[in-house]
Amino acid sequence: MYSEKVMDHFQNPRNVGEIEGASGVGTVGNAKCGDIMRMYLDIDEDTQIIREAKFKTFGCGAAVATSSMATELVKGKTVEEALKITNKAVMEALDGLPPVKVHCSLLAEEAIHAALWDYAEKHHIKIEGLQKPKSDISEEEETEEW
Ligand code: FES
Repeated sequence: MYSEKVMDHFQNPRNVGEIEGASGVGTVGNAKCGDIMRMYLDIDEDTQIIREAKFKTFGCGAAVATSSMATELVKGKTVEEALKITNKAVMEALDGLPPVKVHCSLLAEEAIHAALWDYAEKHHIKIEGLQKPKSDISEEEETEEW
C-alpha cells in the first residue's frame, strides 16, 4: 500500500524538531482528521535561500512522511522556488500515496506556504504568488475529489 520511500520517511523522518528564532513558522491543520503540522524555516535574508527547515507533525504516518519530504525539498531553495513545491511534487518524491492519503500531502504544501507567509509578514516583504494560507485545509477538501 505504501511505497518504500513513504515507509522510510515515516520511520526515519528527516528534520524533526524546531528552529529557535526561525525566520518563518507556519501551522496548519485539518479539522476533519485532526492532524496538525508545524513547519519552521531559517531563511538567509540576503539571498532568500532556505538554509534550514524543520517540522513537528501531530498526525498520521503519511502526514509525517510528507512533512519530512517537504522539509528536504525546501532546503537550499529560494523562497520563490519553495512556493512552487506542490503537494504533487511531494507525493512524486515519495513515489506516490494512496488516494485516501492525498490530503495529507496538502497539509505539507500548506505548511510551507504558512511558514513563508509568516516570514513575509515579519519582514514586510511580498512573495509573488503567495496567498494567505488557510489554518484549516479541510474546508478546501470538501470540493476536491479524492
Ligand atoms: Fe489527515 Fe493524514 S489522515 S493528514
